[in-house]
Amino acid sequence: MRKPVIAGNWKMNKTISESIELVNGLKRELIDIQEVEIIVCPVYTALSDISDLIVDSNIFLGAQNVYWKTSGAFTGEISPLMLKDVGCKYAIIGHSERRKYFNESDQSVNKRIKAALREGLTPIFCVGETLEEREANKTTDVVKRQLSEGLEGLEKEALLNLIIAYEPVWAIGTGKTATPEQAQEIHGFIRSWLVENCSEEVAESLRILYGGSVKETNIKELMQQNDIDGALVGGASLDSSSFVGIVKNSLG
Ligand code: PGA
Repeated sequence: MRKPVIAGNWKMNKTISESIELVNGLKRELIDIQEVEIIVCPVYTALSDISDLIVDSNIFLGAQNVYWKTSGAFTGEISPLMLKDVGCKYAIIGHSERRKYFNESDQSVNKRIKAALREGLTPIFCVGETLEEREANKTTDVVKRQLSEGLEGLEKEALLNLIIAYEPVWAIGTGKTATPEQAQEIHGFIRSWLVENCSEEVAESLRILYGGSVKETNIKELMQQNDIDGALVGGASLDSSSFVGIVKNSLG
């Protein structure tokens, strides 16, 4: 059985006090939920306060990116060691906004994944096609390339500690969710790729999240699909009641 994951990607939103307010609301409403792994990924400046706030709760902390070196002259970057130090268990890696606005490549994504795993962080590795690629029937080619290059050189055992998020770029922040069938098709494709390129064991246990305009009203249907194990939520994770609604509606 794969434990469902609902992760909130806050992107570049919220000051420290706003972040605290949101997490206090989530703690109150979600205190009894043990069946879902609940993750919040605030901005770096709020990580320390949120980490203190969620100690001994059922909410876990993730970062929105990570660099691959441990320390040194890399102005503006943050290392896996530092994220562990502040209490992160997860790091989003290869988000399409990082790829598009900050020129992150499959190769640099691969280095980030390796470094995160080495430090004991669980990467939430994002893949997904643009609208242009989908319309040109290249979705599976693109996802296959992102998977094989992003996971290049990783040991099978290491992959047991990975989460994959399929996020079609055309569905992110646009209000256009992929239909459950469209999402399932690619999730199924990712799982078969894992069987062929890693192992049955990895394919069976690895959680594959869907991301792209997930809301309270569409999570249930998405979760009913065989290969959808949760969601990476952007916009709807910024509001306590809508994130709580998504977590609650994700339960069978
Ligand atoms: P969205 O973002 O839920 O606002 O579409 C998802 C994401 O970018 O992870």
